Amino acid sequence: MTDSYDDAYRQSLENPQRFWAIASQDIEWVRRPRAVIDDSTPPKIRWFPGAVLNTCFNAVDLHVLAGRGDQAALIYDSPVTGTARSFSYSELQDEISRTAGALASLGVERGDRVLLYMPMIPEAVIGMLATARLGAIHSVVFGGFAASELAQRIQHSEPKVILTASCGIEPGRVVSYLPLLESALEKVSMKPAHCVVVNRPEQTVTLRAGRDLDWEEITQSAKPHPCVPVQASEPLYILYTSGTTGTPKGVVRDNGGHAVALKWSMQNIYAMKAGDVFWAASDIGWVVGHSYIVYAPLLMGCTTVLYEGKPVGTPDASAFWRVISEHRVNALFTAPTAMRAIKREDPAAELTQNFDLSSLRALFLAGERADSDTVAWCERALGVPVIDHWWQTETGWAIAANCMGLTPLPIKRGSPTKPVPGYDVHVLDDEGREVGPGETGHIVIKRPLPPGCLSTLWNNDAGFERAYLDRFPGYYQTADAGHFDEDGYLWVMGRTDDVINVAGHRLSTGAIEEVIAHHPDVAECAVIGVKDSIKGELPLAFLVLNAGVDADPEILVTDVVARVREQIGPVAAFKQACVVAQLPKTRSGKILRGTMRKIADSEAYRTPATIDNPGSLDEIRSALEALGYAKPS
Ligand code: COA
Ligand code: AMP
Repeated sequence: MTDSYDDAYRQSLENPQRFWAIASQDIEWVRRPRAVIDDSTPPKIRWFPGAVLNTCFNAVDLHVLAGRGDQAALIYDSPVTGTARSFSYSELQDEISRTAGALASLGVERGDRVLLYMPMIPEAVIGMLATARLGAIHSVVFGGFAASELAQRIQHSEPKVILTASCGIEPGRVVSYLPLLESALEKVSMKPAHCVVVNRPEQTVTLRAGRDLDWEEITQSAKPHPCVPVQASEPLYILYTSGTTGTPKGVVRDNGGHAVALKWSMQNIYAMKAGDVFWAASDIGWVVGHSYIVYAPLLMGCTTVLYEGKPVGTPDASAFWRVISEHRVNALFTAPTAMRAIKREDPAAELTQNFDLSSLRALFLAGERADSDTVAWCERALGVPVIDHWWQTETGWAIAANCMGLTPLPIKRGSPTKPVPGYDVHVLDDEGREVGPGETGHIVIKRPLPPGCLSTLWNNDAGFERAYLDRFPGYYQTADAGHFDEDGYLWVMGRTDDVINVAGHRLSTGAIEEVIAHHPDVAECAVIGVKDSIKGELPLAFLVLNAGVDADPEILVTDVVARVREQIGPVAAFKQACVVAQLPKTRSGKILRGTMRKIADSEAYRTPATIDNPGSLDEIRSALEALGYAKPS
């Protein structure tokens, strides 16, 4: 393979078969691929048909066999509990194989689902890899989601076993997981046979006899289980993500394409080699955690850092710098919101002076648009390249990036640089025509997508086609808008659907609206994302009350806020709502969310010609002004 970005990109599009065949040689297969891609049953494609492997073997056992057993594989650093622990590759292999043995004794087999609802503790990583070891399919649910969201995911993925913990720890409070799990299980018809619980010392719980098992007990006595070979096209995991509706989409990732793509990305995007220390300061409940806390660093033979803490407040804005210096981190990956939170507390980055950050080679940002001020601040604070890269749960790895393992390109702050090899990115107008440089349109990827991207939606092939493939035939629709500039750099400006991005977390305004609409006093509502200097966006709701309702707006808003927290979870950061007489709508009844968002963000807007009730916009503006938005420029 070549070191030049331009050559690699061209080769990957001209001859993807050859490009990915070469990359696939880095994976240890039980049976080597017969072919690189099977597109005989469109719209589905299978990467590496006929090939057989085990992802856990490639991530762990392979390194032990290669003589790297004593190298640190996982460093757990938890300021919220005041603990740290390192696992060598041999120790990790031992823990995973015994956990796999325990899961097998509970009846988990190849193709079964295991759901994880866990905080950022080593058992979460061990549980994911133990599931993969058995050829089973994991589905991780982020700990900040409430019982109803958890229930939806349990009902849809039908896990045989649920892995959980007694609690998670957020600054200032302990989050009891079992009452949330209990409440979720009451709502579902598909009950798991067992729940395996890590009883954390910060909150010990009594387990429910018959159903619940103690993690420590059953893994200590379990027999180590070997890796179960699976077809490259078999699912490794399901990860639910927000779409336009209230129902989350179960993104399915295969084993073979995923392993090949992620290992390639470690070398070519992140410039990592075996033995390097990689830290993705994210959560295993998100795709960044799946790909870059768990799988990619371990496939590469790196040391991965699992951090149970926040960028600020655990204990202060130097938390990230401490972790980098203590564990000699070579690359940090986080969301811009985390850096903005640090910048707010330590604007001159004085705290960096107290630590030796010389191990750090680059900072990678993703999860939301990286504004140029934040990028510039990070560059000054750390003195290393700051690499914005753009991707989504669906793709599993970066669509556009400055590939540090190929010849790096000049950085343009605010752009994630150029499409990554394997991704044939185009920008189309509403009619599907390619637009020129500088013109904003729908960012799409010409099919087939490269290995590692979603193969379908769990139990929903039709939904997969509807959500991603139907709108622009021959292309995958990213639902992001943006443009290419004259130099071929991509600029990603925002979503084209009802998804918002709150502190790097992807949320559906539709899901929040569904919760609010169930309130007995609410006739209709609209939720928009408004700009926030730290979290990027925050949800804000407009409520229209049923005729005759004479509720105190303040009490009503408090009630609605509590319902969203209760039913979606604290992670939605939903705190603002206001009561209005009517929502602005077109004559066909479409709510003008885009116009409302522009008013909130003090952007120029035109009153649409099709508006049915122009006066409603004045009321929206006054309501927003009262909340501190819609400031006249
Ligand atoms: N379990 C339970 N609750 C959780 C949770 C979890 N795993 N994660 C977050 N929450 C809760 C928080 O406690 C908070 O609750 P509160 O309303 O009672 O305060 C709420 O959800 C919002 O949390 P968060 O988004 O973390 O906001 P914050 O104000 O506590 O912290 C930041 C702000 C910027 C420091 C934080 O959002 C952050 O670190 N963001 C980085 C996100 C990231 O890494 N994203 C991954 C994409 S790469
Ligand atoms: P998620 O699926 O949670 O990873 O969220 C994916 C969405 O986050 C994308 O579709 C974008 O809207 C946004 N996003 C992620 N990374 C970037 C980035 N580097 N620049 C702009 N938007 C981004």
